[in-house]
Amino acid sequence: MLVGGRGSLATKKPQKTVGSYWPHATTLWDYVNRAMPFDTPGSLSHDQVYATVAYLLFLNGIVSDNDRLDGRTLPLIRMPNRDGFVPDSRPDVGTKKPGRY
Ligand code: HEM
Repeated sequence: MLVGGRGSLATKKPQKTVGSYWPHATTLWDYVNRAMPFDTPGSLSHDQVYATVAYLLFLNGIVSDNDRLDGRTLPLIRMPNRDGFVPDSRPDVGTKKPGRY
């Protein structure tokens, strides 16, 4: 799901969307750049990927229609669920101490 679901994660019917779940806007850019559109992955220019990601973030109420999305501003976006993840403390994962990340 791409849009919506804010506030639903801790309910019985969590909706994991870009807006409610994804912790980093840069992951969205990378995913769209590599894997979308599903039938022609890699067909979008970088500029088109920025524009599409800006639109998705706009639909999720994370950026406004005046915001400029580029290599400098994209990493500065704070996604709503940025602090909703915990580090995986299993030793083979490589996260040395729980709480570090
Ligand atoms: C440029 C336009 C598109 C964008 C920005 C886009 C974006 C995304 C994103 C962000 C996801 C991940 C959603 C999630 O896991 O929460 C996704 C998944 C998916 N999209 Fe697209 N999409 C686009 C076009 C398309 C088209 C045209 C199709 C079908 C022909 C498609 C089919 C899918 C499918 C099947 C998945 C699930 C893939 C999986 O979980 O392995 N997408 N898309």
